[in-house]
Amino acid sequence: MDKIAIIGLGYVGLPLAIEFGKKYPTIGFDINKQRIQSLKESKDFNNEIKDFSESSMLCFTSEQEDLREANIYIITVPTPVDSYKKPDISLLLEATKCVGKFLQKDDIVIYESTTYPTCTKKECVPLLEKTSNLVFNKDFFVGYSPERINPGDKNHTLTNITKITSGSTEKSAQKIDMLYKSIIKNTYLAPSIEVAEAAKAIENAQRDLNIAFVNELSIIFDRLGIETQEVLKAAQTKWNFLSFTPGLVGGHCISVDPYYLTHISNEYGYHPKVISSGRFINDMMPSFIVQKIIKLLAKHQINPIGAKIAIFGASFKENCKDIRNAKVFEVLKELQEYGCIVKIFDSLVDSDEVFKTYHIHLSKLEELQDLFDVCLVAIAHDYFLDFNYEKILQPHGFIFDLKGFLPKQTKKVYKL
Ligand SMILES: NC(=O)c1ccc[n+]([C@@H]2O[C@H](COP(=O)([O-])OP(=O)(O)OC[C@H]3O[C@@H](n4cnc5c(N)ncnc54)[C@H](O)[C@@H]3O)[C@@H](O)[C@H]2O)c1
Repeated sequence: MDKIAIIGLGYVGLPLAIEFGKKYPTIGFDINKQRIQSLKESKDFNNEIKDFSESSMLCFTSEQEDLREANIYIITVPTPVDSYKKPDISLLLEATKCVGKFLQKDDIVIYESTTYPTCTKKECVPLLEKTSNLVFNKDFFVGYSPERINPGDKNHTLTNITKITSGSTEKSAQKIDMLYKSIIKNTYLAPSIEVAEAAKAIENAQRDLNIAFVNELSIIFDRLGIETQEVLKAAQTKWNFLSFTPGLVGGHCISVDPYYLTHISNEYGYHPKVISSGRFINDMMPSFIVQKIIKLLAKHQINPIGAKIAIFGASFKENCKDIRNAKVFEVLKELQEYGCIVKIFDSLVDSDEVFKTYHIHLSKLEELQDLFDVCLVAIAHDYFLDFNYEKILQPHGFIFDLKGFLPKQTKKVYKL
């Protein structure tokens, strides 16, 4: 029977380990010892997995030596960008080196981390060959199966969304596809590893561009004094109008993956214009939102210097505690530069992590006794629907509902 090792137990790796651990002997490996300790106690600090009980064949470890027993390695480590927005594949290569040390004849290494097309074969395979002293496609095989899970989304889960699979030879591709089919309802076997890599990169680039388009619309309609979300509602009555809402685009996927695509394109001599423009627009949204708030303060005759602003939502997206690349902190910092007094609330996220990453103190919801000039609802967490924002607003204050999801409030509500 196959023995599977999952390398990197984050948002992607842990759900995978949980599913494989129900059917195959599975090793969940992570370099973060704290993470392993809490997983051993059946605690997932990402709040994605609640039930560990059915994964009876799963064990967790941070000892590399334990990987020796596996014959299928699945790599699910982060692939961020550096401060120049260039792909940083150092963790991917580290994990590859680690697996290479234990690779044996006929083993398979499957990459799930998002990367640019050609990366698996050009960057990872040579390193596997070097560290293992084995020959690619003769002694060992490789696959690429991008992940599509959407943390916080209870409907689109690992086992019920279609998963793209691929392999370096026809036989290994079939084996990889069958492996995933044993835990996932639908798979799509792509004709090559490069196709699978590229499909993942464009899925997120497409979403980034679609949001950039509605964000640009919100800049245009702001100048015209027309409500963007009303325009979108009207346009959506056409059968083929695509539904997107303006907002902040952060996180580690949509705001990162397009840079992987532009990187490889630049390397091959084509400098993408459309993809880069979308990134530019989405990256400037925090500033646009701040300008809009400052103008609204002036309109309401509130001095920005000393204006009290409560921001709701510190993660990068709704119903999820992931704060990586959360653009709301750029909004907060710029408002502070205008002299506003800003507090940020979000009981889903970890306040220590917020402080460590952004040097910002998260305020506790229990401390919501102040009266604010502005309530900025930045993220559409479901639990924000239950708040009575009116109770904490100054009589002259207003609500800025970025995602336009709050039920009608009697106080003035602005949207993007
Ligand atoms: N989170 C998502 O929604 C999502 C969706 C689709 C694809 N992806 C992609 O999946 C990959 C993983 O993302 P994530 O969100 O799960 O990341 P994460 O940060 O939640 O988890 C990654 C884990 O890998 C561990 N790790 C890092 N280097 C390691 C190494 N050398 N060996 C073993 N463990 C190591 C970290 O300690 C961490 O626990 C990325 O490429 C990401 O772009 C993420």
